[in-house]
Amino acid sequence: MEIKKYLGDRKRLVEDKLHSLMIAAHGPFSDHIEAMRYSLFVGGKRIRPILCLASAEAVTGDPVLLNEALVTGCAIECIHTYSLIHDDLPAMDDDDLRRGKPTNHKLYGEAGAILAGDGLLTFAFELLARPGASMRTTRQLEIIRLVAEASGSLGMVGGQALDIAGENTNYPFEHLKTIHRSKTGALIRCAIQAGALAGDAEDQQVDQLTRYGEAIGLAFQIVDDLLDETSTTEVLGKSAGADKARGKATYPAFFGIEETKKLAQQAVEKAKQALKGFDTQPTLLVQLADYIYDRTH
Ligand code: IPE
Ligand code: IPE
Ligand code: MG
Ligand code: MG
Ligand code: MG
Repeated sequence: MEIKKYLGDRKRLVEDKLHSLMIAAHGPFSDHIEAMRYSLFVGGKRIRPILCLASAEAVTGDPVLLNEALVTGCAIECIHTYSLIHDDLPAMDDDDLRRGKPTNHKLYGEAGAILAGDGLLTFAFELLARPGASMRTTRQLEIIRLVAEASGSLGMVGGQALDIAGENTNYPFEHLKTIHRSKTGALIRCAIQAGALAGDAEDQQVDQLTRYGEAIGLAFQIVDDLLDETSTTEVLGKSAGADKARGKATYPAFFGIEETKKLAQQAVEKAKQALKGFDTQPTLLVQLADYIYDRTH
């Protein structure tokens, strides 16, 4: 299938599911729920749930298991959205624009934005732990633990802490790699691993998909750094040039644009290598790895 069409179809599928999950869980309207819904539905590429689904599709065709992967991906998207709301706060990156619209705190205030993030994080675990999931309980628990680890102090939150602490300091490149792997790579890798687990993959497949996920997770943040320098606010839907302004170390700051492109391409190739020997050629995962490099926003 053509990758653009695949991304469009899956984005719709994810958004329909997110809508129904949010409505089922959050019936009565309140300002707090509205703040959560605002950031969740204001846009976004939905790449984490799409990768979660694609990973499951690489190992199973069972629609029941694929639905499990879809719900799991939606939970991860809630965590990702919360991380963006908090990332944009004045105390962190202090951004006014996200997904082409005003950031959450611009509309709902700082307390509202902090709580919207907290609400989305907590809702994610409510989804993951839902009763009646058709997965084996051990698999469900494995996924919950994986998502908690990838989101927490050894993953996204820990990476964000290092990112903030590192502003306007000189640190070695290896430290930047650690930041990128944790603040962004961990949740992307986790989406792919969780999809494999939801699809009841064999250990060898989980291992290959994990290595694929690690590599594209890093590639994703390298490209995010690149786009911050080379693209425009209009195309990105968030402020271009923000990294330099805040004194963030980035791949282009260390290596320049051309060398950074090569490093991103290398990470994408490493991801594809990890898939070698898969029973059926996971063409979509290969195309998704290329998309991570080729994307314009
Ligand atoms: C942006 O993530 C923040 C990073 C972790 C680099 P995305 O580029 O996936 O943002 P959306 O979800 O499409 O808005
Ligand atoms: C953020 O990295 C990673 C998160 C965990 C949200 P950035 O700060 O570079 O993300 P953008 O560029 O604001 O989307
Ligand atoms: Mg940041
Ligand atoms: Mg930011
Ligand atoms: Mg960025």
